[in-house]
Amino acid sequence: MTSHWINGWRLTGLLSVLLTLMVIAIVGLHDFSIDGIRMAIRATARTSLILFLPVFAASALARLWPGDATRWLRRNRRYLGVSFAASHGLHAIVIAAFAIGDPALFRSMTSIGTLISGGSAYLVIMAMAATSFDRAVSWLGPRNWRALHWLGGWYIAVSFIVTNAKRIPDMPLYWLPVVLVLAAIALRLVSWWQGRRAPRMASAPV
Ligand code: HEM
Repeated sequence: MTSHWINGWRLTGLLSVLLTLMVIAIVGLHDFSIDGIRMAIRATARTSLILFLPVFAASALARLWPGDATRWLRRNRRYLGVSFAASHGLHAIVIAAFAIGDPALFRSMTSIGTLISGGSAYLVIMAMAATSFDRAVSWLGPRNWRALHWLGGWYIAVSFIVTNAKRIPDMPLYWLPVVLVLAAIALRLVSWWQGRRAPRMASAPV
C-alpha cells in the first residue's frame, strides 16, 4: 500500500485536477448559464463534504478499526484535507461567478449573516490549508498547530450541519449530509471516550 503512487501531494494534485474538470464540465455543459454555475456551487459543496468527512474522522477510524485502509487514510489526511480546501476554493470561484453573473438573484439567496459565517469559515479553511506544510507546522509549533486544526475541524463540521440543515424544509433529503456529519462526530466522541478509558494507548483530543 505504501508504494502505491496515489499518496501524498500526488493525491492532492489528482483530486484538484478532477474537481476542476468537474466544474468546467458542469458549467460548460450548461452553456455557462447561471443554472450551470449554481449547479457547480452545489456540486463543489458536496465534493467538499465528501472530502472533509474522512479527514475529520481519520484518527477516530484508525483508532477504532486499525487496518490498511484506515492507516492509509490517517497517513493521507493532510493531503485529503488540502484537497478539501481546493474543492472549497472552487466553491468560492463559482460563487463569485454567480454574484457577478446575477447579482440580484445572488443577493436574494444570501444575507450578511451568510457572508460573515461563510467568510469566516473560509478564513479558517485558508489558515488550515496554509499550515498543512512541514515548514508551517514547525513555524507554528505542534501545540498551536493541533489547536488550530482541532478548532478548525469542528468549525467546518458545524458549518456543514448548518448549511445543509437550513435546506431541509425545502428538500428533506438534506437530512442525509447532516446525519453523515453527526455520524463522524459520534465516531470522534466514541474514539475519544475509548482513549480516555485506555489513556496509555491513545490520548489525542476529540
Ligand atoms: C461567503 C461564503 C459562502 C457563500 C456566499 C456561499 C453561497 C452558496 C450558495 C449561493 C449556495 C446555493 C447554490 C444554489 O443552490 O444555487 C450554496 C450552497 C451550499 N454551500 Fe455555500 N457559500 C459559502 C460558504 C460555504 C461554506 C463555508 C460551506 C460549508 C463549510 C458551504 C456549504 C454549502 C452547502 C452544503 C450548500 C448546499 C449544497 C447542496 O445543495 O447540496 N458554503 N452556497
